Amino acid sequence: MKIVIICIFGIESVVVKELLALGYSSPRVSNGRVSIEGDLTDVARCNLWLRTAERIYIETGSFRATDFDMLFDGIFSIDWKALLPADAEIPVRSSSIDSKLFSTRDCQSITKKAIVEKLKKSYGINRIEENGKTFQIEVFIHNDIVSVCLDTTGTGLHKRGYRTLNVEAPLKETIASALLQISYWKPGRVLMDPFCGSGTFIIEAAMIAGNIAPGINRVFSFESWTGENEIISGRLKEEAREKEKQVKEILLFGSDISKDNIEIAKKHAMQAGVSGSSEFVVSDFKNIQKRGEYGIMIANPPYGLRLSDKSEIISLYKNLGTKMKEFDTWSKYILTDDDGFEKNSGCRASKKRKIYNGTIRCTYYQFFGPQPGKC
Ligand SMILES: C[S@@+](CC[C@H](N)C(=O)[O-])C[C@H]1O[C@@H](n2cnc3c(N)ncnc32)[C@H](O)[C@@H]1O
Repeated sequence: MKIVIICIFGIESVVVKELLALGYSSPRVSNGRVSIEGDLTDVARCNLWLRTAERIYIETGSFRATDFDMLFDGIFSIDWKALLPADAEIPVRSSSIDSKLFSTRDCQSITKKAIVEKLKKSYGINRIEENGKTFQIEVFIHNDIVSVCLDTTGTGLHKRGYRTLNVEAPLKETIASALLQISYWKPGRVLMDPFCGSGTFIIEAAMIAGNIAPGINRVFSFESWTGENEIISGRLKEEAREKEKQVKEILLFGSDISKDNIEIAKKHAMQAGVSGSSEFVVSDFKNIQKRGEYGIMIANPPYGLRLSDKSEIISLYKNLGTKMKEFDTWSKYILTDDDGFEKNSGCRASKKRKIYNGTIRCTYYQFFGPQPGKC
């Protein structure tokens, strides 16, 4: 079957890298989605191990539709009895881009009607009670091509379970992991986040270093569909626990000016099972010191979203530039919405990449340091 992996636009290549590392040889990529062929064990593996995916779907059908009759017929032609029990609860979501069928509300109700009619016919019953397990259906329409999918994930994959308290403007776990995987950081190298907030970068890095599966403490919706699914997922989780590594040396450091945020970061690290490999302290970024040479600095400093913040942010970015120059042998990675960050910080990026942080269009500024021994 076709497994469709949805991710944030711009990080498809990181999802592909993760899939290759898991042993999937030929992932296919389009905007914000990557697909592979596989079975329920692969569905379980992707949910459990992909750090940068938002959601994992099973595609149940794909066809062209430019009017509601074509949509109904396409949905009706799918063998829903093989996928859903007679009492399934069937909520439907839909989205449409550049297509003749643009009313998502109408698409949802026609999809639902077609599934219900098909189930009634296939099971030989007059009514679908919808008082059983939940099977979330998602209909994606792009350029008049309909992709009908079953959501196997439930709550989005960025919810690993360790973040229980909120700070202002936290970074999504999936984005933090993608930015780390794009950077030169790898386990065994020092990493510092001087604006760590709730600790996302440091905790995600610690989970990578400890080979902790991002979904290890989660339940995915497909697990509730059948006892067999639960067994498959349970077995993979057990195997994942056996593959975890003990990291003895602390190389991952977060700091923040807010005492409350540092308390939250420590709590989250504990809940993620990585408090032994990470350290969080209260500090103004201006006071941080290099920990050795050739480390990695990564940060998501405050953004100047309100006009009133602008001058404050420009001054903060200027001071950050001074600090970055002090970390001369380090590679530095900054995510901000500021198009003028290079000018404001006085540091010229080696590479830039556009990333959406929620609805905010940001740039990931990458400043490569010298290779060890070539300084
Ligand atoms: C956008 S938030 C970072 C969110 C973080 N990446 C997370 O996932 O939770 C920016 C952080 O910078 C911190 N901050 C602001 N000014 C600072 C300063 N002068 N020194 C250190 N941290 C500062 C704030 O307290 C806030 O936690």
